[in-house]
Amino acid sequence: MGQIQDQVLVIFGASGDLTYRKLIPALFDLFMQDLLPRNFTILGVSRTEFTDATFRDKMNDGIRQFAYFKNPSKEKLTVFDEKLHYLAIETKEASEYVKLQHKLKKIDHDHQTGGNYLFYLSTPPALYGLIPQFLAKFGLNKGHNGFPRLIIEKPFGEDVYSAFQLNKLLLEFFKEEQIYRIDHYLGKETVQNVLVTRFANGIYEPLWNRNYIDRVEITAAESLGVEGRGGYYDHAGALRDMVQNHLLQLVALVAMEPPTEISAGAIRNEKMKVFQSLRPLKEHDLFNSVIRGQYMSSNIRGGHFKGYREEVGVDPMSRTETYVALKFFIDNWRWGGVPFYIRTGKRMPTRVSEIVIHFKPTPHKLFVSNPDFWTMGNQLVLRIHPDEGILLKTGMKVPGAGFEVKTVNMDFHYKDLQETYVPGAYERLLLDGMMGDATLYTRGDGLEAAWCFVQPILDFWKHNPNAPLYGYPAGTWGPDCADKLIGGEKQTWRYPCKNLADDGIYCEL
Ligand code: BG6
Repeated sequence: MGQIQDQVLVIFGASGDLTYRKLIPALFDLFMQDLLPRNFTILGVSRTEFTDATFRDKMNDGIRQFAYFKNPSKEKLTVFDEKLHYLAIETKEASEYVKLQHKLKKIDHDHQTGGNYLFYLSTPPALYGLIPQFLAKFGLNKGHNGFPRLIIEKPFGEDVYSAFQLNKLLLEFFKEEQIYRIDHYLGKETVQNVLVTRFANGIYEPLWNRNYIDRVEITAAESLGVEGRGGYYDHAGALRDMVQNHLLQLVALVAMEPPTEISAGAIRNEKMKVFQSLRPLKEHDLFNSVIRGQYMSSNIRGGHFKGYREEVGVDPMSRTETYVALKFFIDNWRWGGVPFYIRTGKRMPTRVSEIVIHFKPTPHKLFVSNPDFWTMGNQLVLRIHPDEGILLKTGMKVPGAGFEVKTVNMDFHYKDLQETYVPGAYERLLLDGMMGDATLYTRGDGLEAAWCFVQPILDFWKHNPNAPLYGYPAGTWGPDCADKLIGGEKQTWRYPCKNLADDGIYCEL
């Protein structure tokens, strides 16, 4: 790992939930592993009035709840607290940034942070265009002695037009190599392992193409509903919230060509080629290959679950999708003719994200006694969470007379790696941002290309408000017709369970 320069991390939106639940706990975990630079200060900025002391109290509470090292000694916490500072400003007012300019000068002087600033925008998206502009007004976008960098949270735009516009605006004040667009899925250890599985093992890559792969399936299911974010979610929906970013990033990692090296440029170039090869969805596809759903109230597992339209902040007549499933193709030599299926939904039976590679069955069916095995073929499951790991479903002879074949599991679980610390997504991304490594961040052009792919779906729904929106009872796997997308009774989605090695509609959730 490279040397990390001394710096100040400026978090805009410091009074918000993300700072409390994710950013500060992740920074504390880095601190506990001795991974922070020697001279390092965190400056929380937002409108809410805090003193350094009250900000520290609140952040300590977040650490105790959400950090991995949640029971630190008082001494450790005190040393970390000394790095935490706070500045209240009206972030919408350009003139207020003079206070930030002075504060940063003082921090540089008092803590020898070298004029290196990492600005983290964890604010409402309406400020993403303003803050960089105001930073520029006070010269904080220019490195005089040190570097300025900018990390931007999602959502990056609400459609293709606003995403292009935001990119354009950011580039007026910062260079592309200074802009770090977050997609927290890329910070997940298991997502990075997709690259290692593919490119560190000689056995997979020769099979990783249209000759051997029948279809690719990606699921990101959540058991929770919108959890107090109804106001935001009702304007976003599952397509913007999960597909445009997280799921298309997973598609890119599964489908990309081997990069020439592990570097931000090489990896992001290959991902970009995948986005450019996504076959645009035409009218026929929009009718037949996109399924949207919305969860309805239900009584399951002894509990009552509200329907989406009853959630706080949600329009009681809302037609926002809480579930979406898509079938599409990647038009290039590797993937010609191979369907990709992706789905995501809230209030599903369990929280699970995984990639399933379905291999084609053998060309000649020698062992005829188990037809089910032949329709299924081998599957490689890359589990992102929970029960992180990899599973290969393979055929084995049932001991005894004849040649009966059954499917068995070859599985690896991260939890078996005893004493290996698996860093959280924000921990990894913050560390990379501090080091200036953008490999796990999205590049402007890739993000725009992903928006270009989903925009026809948004337009279609907008102009055809009566396009089907299927209800599904909270706690189920979404609309039944999503199975038809794959092929009906013989082929369906994998219905994953909490445990990687189990599947089927009925299992421990
Ligand atoms: C966020 C979405 O980006 O990802 C949330 O805004 C969603 O709605 C979350 O719940 C899912 O992330 P994870 O890591 O829990 O799969």
